Amino acid sequence: MAADNNPWWAGAVVYQVYPRSYADGDGDGVGDLPGLIGRVPYLAALGVDAIWLTPFYPSPLNDGGYDVSDYMDVDPRLGTLGDFDRLIGVTRNHGIRVIVDLVPNHCSWDHPLFKKALAAAPGSHERELFLFRDGRGPDGAEPPNNWPSQFGGPAWTRVPDGQWYLHLFDASQPDWNWRDPRVAPMFEEILRFWLDRGIGGFRVDVAHGLFKDATLGDAADASLTNRPSAYYHRPEVYAVYRDWRLILDSYPADGFPGSRTAVGEVWADSAETIAPYLAPGGLPQVFNFELVKSRWSAPELRAAIDATHAFADGSRAPWVLGNHDVVRPVTRWGKDAARAAALLLLALPGSAYIYQGEELGLPEVEDIPAAARRDPTFRRTGGKVVGRDGCRVPMPWLAGGASFGFSRTDLGFTPAPPWLPQPPGWGAYSVAAQQGDPDSFLSLYRTALRLRRDHPVLGAGALRWLDGPEGVLAFVREPGFAFAANLASEPRPLPPHTEVLLASGPLVTDEAGALALPRDTAVWLAQ
Ligand code: GLC
Repeated sequence: MAADNNPWWAGAVVYQVYPRSYADGDGDGVGDLPGLIGRVPYLAALGVDAIWLTPFYPSPLNDGGYDVSDYMDVDPRLGTLGDFDRLIGVTRNHGIRVIVDLVPNHCSWDHPLFKKALAAAPGSHERELFLFRDGRGPDGAEPPNNWPSQFGGPAWTRVPDGQWYLHLFDASQPDWNWRDPRVAPMFEEILRFWLDRGIGGFRVDVAHGLFKDATLGDAADASLTNRPSAYYHRPEVYAVYRDWRLILDSYPADGFPGSRTAVGEVWADSAETIAPYLAPGGLPQVFNFELVKSRWSAPELRAAIDATHAFADGSRAPWVLGNHDVVRPVTRWGKDAARAAALLLLALPGSAYIYQGEELGLPEVEDIPAAARRDPTFRRTGGKVVGRDGCRVPMPWLAGGASFGFSRTDLGFTPAPPWLPQPPGWGAYSVAAQQGDPDSFLSLYRTALRLRRDHPVLGAGALRWLDGPEGVLAFVREPGFAFAANLASEPRPLPPHTEVLLASGPLVTDEAGALALPRDTAVWLAQ
C-alpha cells in the first residue's frame, strides 16, 4: 500500500508500448524487447510509473500479435524470455512496473491446441476446446448462427470437413470454449507464469468476451454492440475474474509495495454493464473509454467524466485519450485540443494511461498505401474500414536518418525499412527534435508528469466541478489545485488562483490586464 492507503495502481500513470513500433534493437525493421530496454531511461525521464506491453508472444501476426500461438514465450522476432527478464530488471531499477497483455477470448490458428482440434474429428475432445458447430441450410453451407465478426463478415469460418468454428475477431483468432473445464486452469497457469517473472499485472483483452450463450443461437440484434448480448458480458465471466483476483492477491509485493493489478478492456454501453466487473473481489480495474468516445466539447467531456463516476472513480477505471485501436487525439480533436486534453487527463482523479507517441503529439497517419496496411479490418471490409495502422506507425526518435532512429544504425548494416512505413516529415515529431524545446509536446508531458508526482492532491482522489463560463471545463482538486480548459472560441477568465503552474499554450491578457485562457488551452493552477 502507498502511504495514502491506495494501492500503487490507483493513481499510476501507465505508458502503453506497442512493442513492434517502439524501438528496433536488431535492425530488422520490427521493434523488439532489446530496443525497448534501450529506451527505459527515456521512460524514466518521462516520469511514468508503469508500462503496459501489448502482445509480444509468438504469433503469425494476423492481428498485430493479438493472435497468440504460445502464451508463455516471446516471439523470436521480438527477443527471448531472457530479454523479458532483463526488461523486468531494468524497469525495476528505474521504479517502473511492467503490465502484460493477456488474451483469453481467443488464440491464433497457429496455436498447437487449435491445430490439434482441426486435425481431430467433429465432436472430438480436441474440438471441444473451441466452438466448432455444424452449419445450417442445405449441406450445412450456412454459418451456425447470425453472429458477426468484430472485424467485418461472419464470426464463423468453415473447415474442410464441413464444420464451422467461431471467431469474434479475425478467422485467424479462434475463440476458446470457456465452458470446457480445461480452459480456466490453462489460463491460471499462464497468469502464474508471468506473475512469477515479476510483472505488476495484466491488461485483459476483450474482458467482456470469453463466455458465449451456451446454445449459440441467433442473436436478437445481429450487430456487434457493447450491450450485453449472446456473445458479450455473459454473467459467467465474473467468476473467472474473481478466481484471477485471488491469484493476483496471493502474490507477494516482489520489490514493489502493493498488490498486482489487472485492468480489463471492457467496452460497455452503461454503468450497469460495467459494475459487476468491479464488484468486490472482481477485477481491480477496467478501462474507461469515455474520453475516447467524447467529442471536444465542454458539456460532453463533463458528462463523460460524470459517467465514469457513475461506475467507478478513475482509480478503478483509468482514464485514456487513445490507444492502439483508435484514431490519435491530435487528429480527432486538433493539436491545441490534444495538448489541453493531456493536462485534463493528468489532472483527473485516479490512474491515467498514455499511448506511446501521445507525448510527442503524433498524428494519425492517414495515407498509408493499401498494400502496406496490416490491420485485418482493412482486408475483411474490403478497405471500407481503413483500420488501425495509422496509430501504430513506428516511433520517430531522431530528426533524420534511416527510420528516424526507430532501428539501430550502429550494427554495421543498413536496417530494413520499418514494418509500417513512416511518412516523410515524421522526424519533426521525434524525441530529438522536441526535447530541448520548452514549448514542445514532450516538454508539456514531462513537466505535467513531474508536477503530478510532486503535487500531493494529484493522482487518486476526488474532484469538485467549478461552474465557469460557457465552454469552460473547470474543477478543483482540494486542497490547493485547480484545472481549467477553454473550449469556447473567445478567451475566458481563469478561475481564482495564486499561481499558474502549467499551461498547454500561451495565455492572453484581457482588457483589464488579467490573464485569460484562449481557445483550446488548459491550465493547472495553484489555489
Ligand atoms: C482488443 C485489442 C485489439 C485486438 C482485439 C482482438 O480490442 O485492443 O487490438 O484487435 O482485442 O484481440
